[in-house]
Amino acid sequence: MFGNSPYVRSNQDGIHEKLETVVRKHLSHDYLRPIPAHTQQAFDVADKTVRERGQCIILDSGCGAGDSTIFLAKRFPKHLIIGVDKSLVRLNKASRKQAPGNMMLLRADQFDFWRLLERAGWPIDAHYIFYPNPWPKKQHLGRRIHGHPAFGALVKLAEYIEVRSNWSLYVEEFALALKIAGRTAVVRDFKPATPVSLFEKKFYASGQSLYRVFSHTSETFLWT
Ligand SMILES: C[S@@+](CC[C@H](N)C(=O)[O-])C[C@H]1O[C@@H](n2cnc3c(N)ncnc32)[C@H](O)[C@@H]1O
Repeated sequence: MFGNSPYVRSNQDGIHEKLETVVRKHLSHDYLRPIPAHTQQAFDVADKTVRERGQCIILDSGCGAGDSTIFLAKRFPKHLIIGVDKSLVRLNKASRKQAPGNMMLLRADQFDFWRLLERAGWPIDAHYIFYPNPWPKKQHLGRRIHGHPAFGALVKLAEYIEVRSNWSLYVEEFALALKIAGRTAVVRDFKPATPVSLFEKKFYASGQSLYRVFSHTSETFLWT
């Protein structure tokens, strides 16, 4: 039900003690898992569109039911917004919504997709990840985005990166991982004027605190 989302509960009470070791290992090793055919196909479709349109890109990874992709497409009409999610159920919900012409939704595993993007050299101005699954159990560090082997690809993709979560430790860990990778990282709590996604809406309606971490490579480039 809306307005009673459970808080994140974790057996971890501070930054994971293995975070730095794990991030450094992933930054210094290529992630060599073969790219599955379905992700390669989704990428090929998008690559053709990106090259034909010649627009700068904004990525919305783990876009879920597509509300944030629509929000970004309206806010940045000159960009092509690409929403990626692995869930067909959520993407089907998204496909029933009225979508601006400057966005596309793809079914793909985001971790493999980022590796393809790293090689493709798309002009990605910004990369948003709204409310990734928190994987709060301590033993699941490797499933969090900053603990995943594809983190090394992620940090190279876009000038601006923003991650939002209702778990403060998640954004703190993400910020530390960004700094280990040599990027800036600023953490803030915030109250959304207009919720950008379904999860933001439901966490906010439940009275939960919301957190964001953002990173930009240029001193003059700030989106929000
Ligand atoms: C908690 S939901 C948040 C959805 C949306 N961003 C929002 O804020 O409403 C996390 C989303 O990430 C997607 N996801 C998780 N792991 C993924 C992966 N490896 N590749 C692509 N999508 C993934 C899930 O399918 C889900 O839609």
